[in-house]
Amino acid sequence: MKKNIKIFSAIQPTGNLTIGHYLGILRFWKNLQYKYFCLYCIADLHALTIYNKNNKINNQILDLLAFILAVGINPSRSILFLQSDVIEHLKLYWILNCYTYIGELNRMTQYKSKSEIYLNNLSLFSYPVLMASDILLYDIDFVCIGKDQIQHIELIRKISKRFNKLYKTNCFKIPNYILDENFSKILSLIDINKKMSKSDVNINNVIFLFDSPEIIKYKIYNSLTDNDIPPKIIFDVDNKPGVSNLLNILSGITDVSIKNLEKYFINYNYNKFKNIFYKILSKFLLKLQKKFWYFRNKEEFLIKILNIGKVKSKFLAKKKIFNIYKLLNFK
Ligand code: TRP
Repeated sequence: MKKNIKIFSAIQPTGNLTIGHYLGILRFWKNLQYKYFCLYCIADLHALTIYNKNNKINNQILDLLAFILAVGINPSRSILFLQSDVIEHLKLYWILNCYTYIGELNRMTQYKSKSEIYLNNLSLFSYPVLMASDILLYDIDFVCIGKDQIQHIELIRKISKRFNKLYKTNCFKIPNYILDENFSKILSLIDINKKMSKSDVNINNVIFLFDSPEIIKYKIYNSLTDNDIPPKIIFDVDNKPGVSNLLNILSGITDVSIKNLEKYFINYNYNKFKNIFYKILSKFLLKLQKKFWYFRNKEEFLIKILNIGKVKSKFLAKKKIFNIYKLLNFK
């Protein structure tokens, strides 16, 4: 048990819940909680950067929280909290803005792509600075992220080092990051050259948390494999992206290694493989849905969880802000 090592991770409460939430990050959260001191955050302030009045952030927060609990994240092991509950994030955000250069933010690839899709507002631009305050408030050792966030973390390392140097202090701990390599790349079921995305216009590309067994059956049977003769269920991302993607998903939900899955399916054709695959996946989702509704129907309980998380995170954040204010000669 390395409880002296602190991990931070956050998810935005936006869009529909998908299998990608589980495979991409929540599965990782669950495993980390047993070994480390973890802070898990629902980043609702970040969600506001692409807010439009049709997405009800409140409901999405409770949905995401119920999903997090359904996956098995235990709020008494880790700190599970809502970003907007801890005002200190915004206090540090402003301070860090003063030590971040326009040129640096301009180079962020996520900003470049998001500002083409969404209203190009200031928050979209300074998004990584809010991430920086999420992390630097808590003296984090490792930030748990998907590959698309690496550039942001590198910038945050730069900002924190710059601040420390300027004030001749080690006030900020310089964060490292960890990635779950295997599961950061779940592909679409049909358009297998692009990542599975909760906002895909073609819903048959995506496995949603709430998909019924009938829908899963349809989607899996329609997923793209290849025309190899004889058919081979092996993991080969370059030559067999469709089959590899299904193996990746299957391994993620069963915790069976890809090597062992390949052995198991050695004499299977794609139809038989898909038949077993959709059955396992439907069962997995039904179980998760049941747990989800168990928690989602207890709103008071969910709110209590957030309140406990608020007290715990605020305690740490307040102390940090106090020290930073002192350093800057604020009272
Ligand atoms: N930007 C992250 C994402 O979309 C979410 C996030 C917000 C985050 N604050 C963070 C991740 C701090 C790591 C650390 O995936």
